[in-house]
Amino acid sequence: MRIAMIGTGYVGLVSGVCFSDFGHEVICVDRDPAKIEMLEAGKVPIFEPGLDDLMMRNVQAGRLTFTTDLKTAVDGVDAVFIAVGTPTRRGDGHADLTYVMAAAAEIGQALTDYAVIVTKSTVPVGTNRKVAEAVRAAAPEAAFDVASNPEFLREGAAIDDFMRPDRVVVGVESERAAQIMSDIYRPLYLRDFPIMVTDLESAEMIKYAANAFLAAKITFINEIAALCERVGADIKKVSKGMGLDGRIGNKFLHAGPGYGGSCFPKDTAALARIGQEHAVPMQITETVMRVNEGVKSRMVEKLRDLCDGSFNGKTVAVLGVTFKPNTDDMREAPSLTIVPALVGGGAKVRVVDPEGFREGEHLLPGVAWCDDPYAAAETADLLVLLTEWNEFRALDLKRLAEAMTAPRMADLRNIYKRADVIDAGFEAYDAVGR
Ligand SMILES: NC(=O)c1ccc[n+]([C@@H]2O[C@H](COP(=O)([O-])OP(=O)(O)OC[C@H]3O[C@@H](n4cnc5c(N)ncnc54)[C@H](O)[C@@H]3O)[C@@H](O)[C@H]2O)c1
Repeated sequence: MRIAMIGTGYVGLVSGVCFSDFGHEVICVDRDPAKIEMLEAGKVPIFEPGLDDLMMRNVQAGRLTFTTDLKTAVDGVDAVFIAVGTPTRRGDGHADLTYVMAAAAEIGQALTDYAVIVTKSTVPVGTNRKVAEAVRAAAPEAAFDVASNPEFLREGAAIDDFMRPDRVVVGVESERAAQIMSDIYRPLYLRDFPIMVTDLESAEMIKYAANAFLAAKITFINEIAALCERVGADIKKVSKGMGLDGRIGNKFLHAGPGYGGSCFPKDTAALARIGQEHAVPMQITETVMRVNEGVKSRMVEKLRDLCDGSFNGKTVAVLGVTFKPNTDDMREAPSLTIVPALVGGGAKVRVVDPEGFREGEHLLPGVAWCDDPYAAAETADLLVLLTEWNEFRALDLKRLAEAMTAPRMADLRNIYKRADVIDAGFEAYDAVGR
């Protein structure tokens, strides 16, 4: 199969690389010449574990190429995937479809033969039909079908998620498109991964419903964590006891500083907006969004309490600022609420993150970046564990306590045991829901 992948971000690049690893001939397109230049030089513009090796292997095998020229890329392909961003539209929560629709029009102008135009970006229900209209408007004679193929990969584990998915969802309207999609995903089909073929609208809805559900699950446990703190229960035990129930499951049941990232905040906002537009308010999702904002504010108050009521003049070391470990993605990370609150309150903030600097440098003004936790902790009054990178899971607590002026710890990912932290010489320890 010959595939063009439009957009080489977290989803487009991983999907393009993995499709080429399936044996397809893939050309990845981005309108950002700097990204394409890097990719052509064998460099991956994002941090995603394992992506560089897999990319190089397929480039060397001659199956994977990169270009800024959408027109030549689309020429003669069986399928064109749209994997461009769909951020929140300023002001109203709606998914901004500017990039998707622009890509659709460009594809229309470039089509020379029949192809399936597949939307991988997360888009509101009805968008695939709008994509079809945009292509038809640009090329009234073109032969094509549209397909919806929402992506469920998680940053940080993207390759494994793509290669071993819980399911692949494909929304189509014609046999021909279904056949091409099935040929593209044949390697997964042969290994018995479920491929669910459905209509366009259901495929579009599955993605939003799944993300809103996961956001609700996280938010639910965060709310229970707040109550645990008041009644003397331990959220880790509560989560475990709940998660052992097969109907509930243990995933997405870890209390923390609130969800963030490139998907949950914008997808919950978009679902709420779709509900409003159809006069079916998504009340649970709207509440989840509100509660999640409250969770982040609650974390700021926790830190303030540990600083005796004021950040002014305190030195705070923050470990981890990306929205989760194993990614360099900072979009909507809780750190973007918590760190500015510290800086704004007059604290001197030091930050350590294995991959966060490239993005974080611009997003977190007024902080000092350190190479390791021990340097950051030097003479600090508070240590905040914000993102649970592996390298922060087995810290030398004694060394940290000795380096700090007032050794106090806010463990917002519930990594450590209170007794161990206090035994190591910390004078105060707070976590989430314990
Ligand atoms: N990031 C995730 O974990 C994730 C997971 C599942 C689904 N999604 C969805 O996938 C989509 C893409 O997300 P992302 O995180 O990869 O976005 P991203 O912002 O990382 O990448 C988008 C890329 O598209 C390029 N682009 C935009 N318009 C273009 C055009 N007309 N032609 C060529 N290139 C163009 C941009 O330059 C950019 O490189 C979104 O809809 C998102 O909701 C993301």
